[in-house]
Amino acid sequence: MDIGDMRRDFESEGLDRQHLNDNPVIQFENWFEDSRKAGILEPNAMSLATSGADQMPDIRTVLLKYFDERGFVFYTNYGSRKARELDENPRAALLFPWIGLNRQVRIQGAVEKVSKSESLRYFTSRPRGSQIGAWVSEQSKAITSRGLLEQKVAEMKRKFSSGEIPLPDFWGGYRVVPERIEFWQGRPSRLHDRFEYVREADAWTIQRLQP
Ligand SMILES: Cc1cc2nc3c(=O)[nH]c(=O)nc-3n(C[C@H](O)[C@H](O)[C@H](O)COP(=O)(O)O)c2cc1C
Repeated sequence: MDIGDMRRDFESEGLDRQHLNDNPVIQFENWFEDSRKAGILEPNAMSLATSGADQMPDIRTVLLKYFDERGFVFYTNYGSRKARELDENPRAALLFPWIGLNRQVRIQGAVEKVSKSESLRYFTSRPRGSQIGAWVSEQSKAITSRGLLEQKVAEMKRKFSSGEIPLPDFWGGYRVVPERIEFWQGRPSRLHDRFEYVREADAWTIQRLQP
């Protein structure tokens, strides 16, 4: 099979300025809802791009757990590789690849940690197994075997055998505060519709971009 011959025309309805909400967060919410209703697998899975002091781009998937006017929140280990990169350079990009709808959304912005109480609220809502998992993993560090990890799980299960599992101080959320959000709708013959929102002071400007 020749990958170079793999292509598909994007047959979808166009995106016009009058269909877009002036507020990109509401526009995102509308598209997120479309993705959910269309049965897209894990519509909240997003690529998170960072780059630390070495300026080498890095990327991985994380799950969007909350969003509102203030930004887009995901949870992770504050000692992980991505956390180190965000310490060194607190800016990131997000990508939602909603290919089943011929859509993608790109977001760029500054990144801040969410409050301890916000992380606690989310941590408490997680299944017990995931809470133990957070305690066990020194995310992104090397480990010599899976057996060691399983040993740590058994230890933590003993330690937290009763009552609520506390929030580890090395685990919590980050909020990407959007400065630029782009909505992309695939169209036939590669003449796609793209609209870019850029934050200027407290207002958003919107412009159409060439495909
Ligand atoms: C579908 C999917 C969802 C994921 N969600 C998260 C997440 O919400 N938080 C997280 O820390 N890692 C998540 N991961 C794992 C990350 O992609 C990554 O392996 C991990 O965070 C370590 O990244 P780092 O070494 O760059 O810090 C997810 C992976 C996949 C494939």
